[in-house]
Amino acid sequence: MTARATFAAILLVLLVSAPGAAPTQGPAPRVIEVTAERFEFWPSEIRVDQGEEVELRIRSDDTMHGFRIVGAGTNLLIPKRGKGYAVTRFTGSTAGRYTFECSRMCGAGHNFMRGVLVVRPGGGTQ
Ligand code: CUA
Repeated sequence: MTARATFAAILLVLLVSAPGAAPTQGPAPRVIEVTAERFEFWPSEIRVDQGEEVELRIRSDDTMHGFRIVGAGTNLLIPKRGKGYAVTRFTGSTAGRYTFECSRMCGAGHNFMRGVLVVRPGGGTQ
């Protein structure tokens, strides 16, 4: 049993250190920082290229909020200020405009707390 564990450990090291080994998922996605605050997101417009994977890091500047990308199945709880941030990855495979909105009741302006995620067609062009 010990020998087997050792073998597994060596194999793991070899996999990690193999020359030219690709990272698990290719290049790290571009990180986009988003701030939520009553009652808006900043930036309120996020632009990505079609096919580009981005990592959204969303933090709050006050209370708890939510972050839902309508039609994309993304729905996160954003911890209140000072309690870290929510992370999700998004790849816009279809060009277009996607609404994102707060999905947690946060006050009188909750229903107006939204923005748009723009997926530019063609990828790589500005
Ligand atoms: Cu922020 Cu609801």
